[in-house]
Amino acid sequence: MNMITRRQFLASSAACGFASAVPSLIASGAAQAATPTLLRAESRVIEVAGRAAKVYGLVREGGQQGLALWAGDAFRVRLENALDAPTLVHWHGLTPPFGQDGVPDLPQPLLKPGESFDYAFPLETPGTHWMHAHTLQEQQLLAAPLIVSDPAEVGLDEQEVVVLLHDFSFKAPEELLAGLAGSDGSMSGHGGGHGGHGSSASGHGSGGAAMDINDIEYDAYLANDRTLDDPEVFRVDRGGSVRLRIINGATATAFWIDTGGLDGEAIAVDGNPVVPVPGRRFPLGMGQRIDIRLRVPSEDGAWPVLALREGAVQRTGFILATAGGRVERVMSAGGKASTPLDLAFEEQLRASHIPPERPAIRTHPVVLGGTMEGYVWTINGRTWDERLPLQVSAGDRVELAMRNDSMMGHPMHLHGHHFQVVEVNGRRFDGARRDTVWLPPESAVTVAFDASNPGTWAFHCHHLYHMATGMMTVVEYV
Ligand code: C2O
Ligand code: CU
Repeated sequence: MNMITRRQFLASSAACGFASAVPSLIASGAAQAATPTLLRAESRVIEVAGRAAKVYGLVREGGQQGLALWAGDAFRVRLENALDAPTLVHWHGLTPPFGQDGVPDLPQPLLKPGESFDYAFPLETPGTHWMHAHTLQEQQLLAAPLIVSDPAEVGLDEQEVVVLLHDFSFKAPEELLAGLAGSDGSMSGHGGGHGGHGSSASGHGSGGAAMDINDIEYDAYLANDRTLDDPEVFRVDRGGSVRLRIINGATATAFWIDTGGLDGEAIAVDGNPVVPVPGRRFPLGMGQRIDIRLRVPSEDGAWPVLALREGAVQRTGFILATAGGRVERVMSAGGKASTPLDLAFEEQLRASHIPPERPAIRTHPVVLGGTMEGYVWTINGRTWDERLPLQVSAGDRVELAMRNDSMMGHPMHLHGHHFQVVEVNGRRFDGARRDTVWLPPESAVTVAFDASNPGTWAFHCHHLYHMATGMMTVVEYV
């Protein structure tokens, strides 16, 4: 018990941050038998750049954002819609049975205001996960951490820091979407891929003019609702080890996580342990998570950890500081633009645990296409409205051979399963297990998974506006 109580999520000074004691094993065991944990989707007001911003949140009893659970327990949550609009929440990283995944109409309908729904299923995937609306409400911060601690890892780190990144706009998401679609012609001018059928369709716009990888002008980039003008400060012990659990909850922004003056090692991606990869800069696409272990120096100090917007100068972040460390002001902008995300880190990753493979292999080619002109994005030449399901059978080992023929990067996410990265640009290896993988422009990544969770599961790009304009299909068990 001593080790358990020693380990803690660092308390946040922000009223809004995710901060809690990890539930004790005993307490969570008791909770399992009793009533479900209440999780409320509600409105809240945060301050961004000196202005009040009305956003959403996912708040549990006691007022904390997010959920902290134990692997091996059951997920027993009552989601209550306290918004004035219909909503639903997807548990990104969990592998619930079909029916409890929280994607509207796959198959659960949106909850009306005032309605609630009880979820109950075993928690099989420990790790840094999150939850979010699978609609434009994600832009309005209907998102929070969902941490599933592994009892086997208790005591490995003295402290944990949980950070949710976000890109923020004072505009309504509908307005942002309309701006994208209307930027260069109208959406109706495109058939969304009528001409491209089957796996060999190459999508629209490949070979078109080079495009700005950052297609939305955001008003701010947030780390636990704070900007770098007023960053969150986590007090850490001198000489201790800290586990950062960083979640990219941004809708359209990929980041480089920069640990600055501290050497780190990546120990998990999307909640799955990897053979540790040392470094000071790690890529993080939308929807992805990374756990980084840092060793705090034995002298007093303060160290910013930054999230650098890919290909741009904007940044957000937070500060780790010892009790005696002086927290200096961190530059919130300026400096050199970071580079676009690439696959160098992905190719270094090796899963530290690979479950035994199933034999039958079924391969689906997946071609990612799209065009900024009219803003239409496709999978195998088709938008969501005209999707061709990727069919699998229970017991199959399935490979999704993805190729990005477009000029933007796409973080591709499969629901209901975790997959393994097995090939990058023609090179096979035992890569990381994940649920979301980044495909830079003109790249190819193959992932493999065991078809062990029957249902009809969303498979899509985690760029919210790519998904909303077509880049989504389903993996369907037949
Ligand atoms: Cu994080 Cu389909 O979602
Ligand atoms: Cu995309």
